[in-house]
Amino acid sequence: MEKIDVLYTEEQIKECVKRVARQIEADFDGEEIVFVGILKGAFMFISDLAREVNLNTKIDFISVSSYGQKTTSSGVVKLIKDLDNDIAGKNVIIVEDIVDTGLTLKYLSDLLQQRKPKTIKLCTLLDKESRRQVNIKADYVGFQIKDYFVVGYGIDYAQKYRGLPYVGHVILEG
Ligand code: IMP
Ligand code: MG
Repeated sequence: MEKIDVLYTEEQIKECVKRVARQIEADFDGEEIVFVGILKGAFMFISDLAREVNLNTKIDFISVSSYGQKTTSSGVVKLIKDLDNDIAGKNVIIVEDIVDTGLTLKYLSDLLQQRKPKTIKLCTLLDKESRRQVNIKADYVGFQIKDYFVVGYGIDYAQKYRGLPYVGHVILEG
């Protein structure tokens, strides 16, 4: 069994979403943006962010699977579900739950860059910067965290805990 220690409460996450939303509004004043959520982990963050950002927004989703993560350094990322719409000429903000090695976000930002968007920005709720294997930096970061394994607010452990309204730190027990 695992025990979950609260790391960020629902209130703290709300404040964080507001702070990130204000940064996005300031950067894209008067423009339209396309939020690209990375399934499944970012679903809750993107839905709160989309409600909080007071701009014209469109929402699309993309899904990838990574192989050998944490046990090998192969860094292979495979596209499982592509975007539904063209992003050429659009202001794209990729929305992620956690940036860890950075391989997923690097793969996706390179992939979407080829489609000639007007701009691409990277937004993540959580950033484990100390774990980075590739040179990638998010433009909008909710919280910097240590090398904790976290769950909740969309983020899973073996598909569990995505529905928790807070972010917790998983402690494995006996
Ligand atoms: P990266 O490609 O190594 O940056 O991996 C990022 C992905 O790994 C995230 O989108 C998460 O799905 C997953 N991940 C990384 N850290 C955690 C964690 O602490 N809990 C749950 N999933 C995680
Ligand atoms: Mg993910």
